[in-house]
Amino acid sequence: MSDKTFYITTAIYYVNDVPHIGSASEAIAADVMARYERSRGRKVIFGTGTDENAMKVAEVAASSGMSPQQYVDKLVPVWTDTWRAMHIQYDNWIRTTEPGHRHVVETAFSKMIENGDIYKDTYKGWYCVSDETFFRESEVVDGLCPNAECKKPVRWVEEENYFFRLSAYGDRLLEHIEANPDFLAPEFRKNEVVSFIKSGLRDACVTRKAYGWGIPVPGDPDQVIYVWFDALLNYLTVAGYLSDEKKFAETWPADVQLVGKDIFVRFHCTLWPAMLMSLGVEIPRLILGHGFWTVEGQKMGKSLGNAIAPVKVSEDLAAMSGASFDVAVDAIRYFLLREVSFGLDGDFSIGGLIGRFNSDLANDLGNLLNRTLPLLHRNRSGVVPQPDAGDADSLVMRGLVTATVDEVAGYLDKLQFSDALASIWTLIGRGNKYMEDQAPWKLARNEADAAKLDTVLYTVLEMVRSIAIMVQPVMPHVAEVIWGQLGISEALTGRQWQSAGVWGGLKPGTQTGTPTPIFPRIDTRQKPAVEEKKVEEKQAEEKPVVENPTITFDEFKKTQLKVAKILSAERIEGADKLLKLQVDLGTEQRQLVAGIAKQYEPESLIGKLIIVVANLAPAKLRGVESQGMLLAANDPDGAAVLLMPDKDVPPGSRVS
Ligand code: MSP
Repeated sequence: MSDKTFYITTAIYYVNDVPHIGSASEAIAADVMARYERSRGRKVIFGTGTDENAMKVAEVAASSGMSPQQYVDKLVPVWTDTWRAMHIQYDNWIRTTEPGHRHVVETAFSKMIENGDIYKDTYKGWYCVSDETFFRESEVVDGLCPNAECKKPVRWVEEENYFFRLSAYGDRLLEHIEANPDFLAPEFRKNEVVSFIKSGLRDACVTRKAYGWGIPVPGDPDQVIYVWFDALLNYLTVAGYLSDEKKFAETWPADVQLVGKDIFVRFHCTLWPAMLMSLGVEIPRLILGHGFWTVEGQKMGKSLGNAIAPVKVSEDLAAMSGASFDVAVDAIRYFLLREVSFGLDGDFSIGGLIGRFNSDLANDLGNLLNRTLPLLHRNRSGVVPQPDAGDADSLVMRGLVTATVDEVAGYLDKLQFSDALASIWTLIGRGNKYMEDQAPWKLARNEADAAKLDTVLYTVLEMVRSIAIMVQPVMPHVAEVIWGQLGISEALTGRQWQSAGVWGGLKPGTQTGTPTPIFPRIDTRQKPAVEEKKVEEKQAEEKPVVENPTITFDEFKKTQLKVAKILSAERIEGADKLLKLQVDLGTEQRQLVAGIAKQYEPESLIGKLIIVVANLAPAKLRGVESQGMLLAANDPDGAAVLLMPDKDVPPGSRVS
């Protein structure tokens, strides 16, 4: 493990707007990396903050009748509070109005004047205040910003300004990119950078005529330093540049810099490394340009009126599900990182969020824990039992855990969050399947199976311990809750990552906590469709009122019972008890809907032979047609237990 401090940054946010899910997603990704590295025992600095010296900040402050300073002072807590609510644990919140940062900007500017990289000339061209970007005359059509997502009117500027000799750095930048294949990601955006540089770099205007806000040019108070020149240097300020030599030596270069695709090419992959080259400072190790979160395909933004506020959507999710606010926050973090490959665009929808909440969190992760802990409490007073270390099935699970931890680390090292989570969820799926196969609820009925029950319960709980460590960077609160339910006294945060892949961390004899479901399922049921309701009512009406009625043999003969083979099984969205099955009835294939989802994992059913009432009139359950009914017994808890032939018989065989 490297001694170097792991230094990760996000872009710093303009304070003329309030945070939305898009801006938060970047900070959440950085937070996940920071938590992951901390859990591996590395010293971490996660820097984020606010970009306050912008012209647009001065303008919006004036329109609200405030001084720019009053305005930013009022807005910054909105950002920091939101980040904290979203479990974003940054180490340093920089404000570019801080004196320490101003010192860095002034000194860097002066150094570049001294080394000849900054010179004075006349600027003639366009400026977009909204994007805080200079544009060439040829880039602007109809007086509008060429950025398709901005398109606001640009202003014509003719000023005596200072310029940075960016044109001198094109070749060096290309050489650096070539020599450091891991410097820019993803690959397709790297190609954009290379073409941009190859198309020819022009010197960059790095000051504006003073507008009463921003950092004045040293020795020339009629000019203020261009907000991008100022903002980019925040990354050095946070690392201790010019203020703390030791810290800077341990921290710089930045290991990971996350920015959106809009500010990747021109600012972070061209101007920024060229400025560092001019200062003689090392180039960051990785700059990653992520995609955008849209809402119904449109960029999110206050001006578009479609911004999704992170805290509000977390409150809504908590209200819909009955989960706590902190669980809802973690679910949103999970959704943002699981839904799309980091780097690509994603579309945010409440439907998508609910889908993931119900299937991945409530069903998969929730089930694994909710089925095990109550069994442990019922049968072993909640005390972690001693497993049989040589049990073959348990050893398979153990191997899977170790392999998954390595795989997840491999993905996280490359910031492939979605793949990392998919890999954890494959393990969760295997854990649930193991439960189905071992059926500890059956083992619990037989004293002779006590040792096996101990092993099964231990195995699943130990898997859950490892899963808690692996999900901790993404869902820190949920991981703590799971940890608490497992009864582990050692802190989850700290050097836990290494222990995730080492079997046996959960000590036999540990008293586990109270089992409480973490993710209550969201009921997505619409009012039942009239026809479904009618069928249900009709069935209820048709129920005989006589107790223990007898029927004649002729009456019984009317019921056609047949053996069917299950070909496929899947859950039904919004119906937590139902599974949709495709079955082979010998001469035909049928679709059945059965209320067995709580007891049977869909995958575990494939290939099984069951008994079906083949001549039942079709009915719709939750909008899905069922062409028959399977037979199941009810165990003492009322749970369905499928009836199956004692040995293999061909599908379609009559049952009598
Ligand atoms: N202040 C500059 C950055 C200076 S960094 C030296 C800026 N600020 S911003 O507030 O407009 O954007 C901050 C970050 O949020 C950027 O990386 C931007 O790409 C990102 N996002 C803004 N909207 C976003 C989405 N809809 N989706 C994902 N990220 C988004 O640019």
